[in-house]
Amino acid sequence: MSTRSKLISRRAFLQGSALLAGGAAFAAAHADMGIDSASGRIVDETVRVTVPDLPKAFDGYRIAFFTDIHLGIWVPDEWVAWGLEKLRAHSPDLLVLGGDYILANDNPVWPMLGLIRNEAYAGMDSEDATPLIFSTAAKLLSSYSPPDGIVAVVGNHERWNSIELFHDAFRRYPAIRVLVNEELSVQRGSESLLIFGSDDYLTGLPAVPPAAAIPGVSARVLVTHNPDYVSEVLKRDAARFSLALCGHTHGGQVRLPGLISMAAPVRDTRFLAGLVQVDGRWVYTSRGLGMVGLPFRVNCPPEITTIELKSA
Ligand SMILES: [Fe+2]
Repeated sequence: MSTRSKLISRRAFLQGSALLAGGAAFAAAHADMGIDSASGRIVDETVRVTVPDLPKAFDGYRIAFFTDIHLGIWVPDEWVAWGLEKLRAHSPDLLVLGGDYILANDNPVWPMLGLIRNEAYAGMDSEDATPLIFSTAAKLLSSYSPPDGIVAVVGNHERWNSIELFHDAFRRYPAIRVLVNEELSVQRGSESLLIFGSDDYLTGLPAVPPAAAIPGVSARVLVTHNPDYVSEVLKRDAARFSLALCGHTHGGQVRLPGLISMAAPVRDTRFLAGLVQVDGRWVYTSRGLGMVGLPFRVNCPPEITTIELKSA
């Protein structure tokens, strides 16, 4: 993908800056007890992977990976702003968004129990909350664009809520390019890195194509919300990707001894969280930022991630 001029108006820029500043102030105010005492500190993860077929021009290429934000009553806008600010400090080349952008809760028990962190959506049913949260998520996530821009994939919660409202909201922010079984080619001189964003495995029809046959183009980053799709690809044709970036699992979210996974389990537990190498291919599954089912995490802190690519 060639470098694009930022299509952000001055007003949007100022709004984004204000949000980032708000995020920083929020983080500072909560520095002693972590970003949130119930969920644990958001971990700023950096992962370096050596990719044998990576073109030399991409040695040191940095991808900021932000997934499963689940903006809603349990995840305040400030957490997202804080995450973006921390990612920006790593000077990434590209921001990748891994899906599951909202949690439109209509269970009255949480407000009754006082378990609300984001009053903007308290007391709303999911029909009213869904367009508002999608819109807010798109606005927040488009407020910081690295030189090679922002790409986003679809998660199961987009279809469970409304795929039309998701696309309507994200389309309003051209800084974000939504990839549904689509590929971008990032250029560095005559060399290229492919970024393929797949459809969601649980609710859609993901289809990463065969390995690129273009001379000099051999490294592909597969971005797919659910790592179970990676398992399918590995069984059939591992050469279709060099590195896969996934979310969905929340790392288990609540990890008690003997209970490996509470939220969004995967069939292939090799990909519950973290970095794994299979058949010479790298797979990284982020624990993500948000929560589903319960408004907390145990032994499984939320994360933001910077992936640095190294050539062999
Ligand atoms: Fe999720």
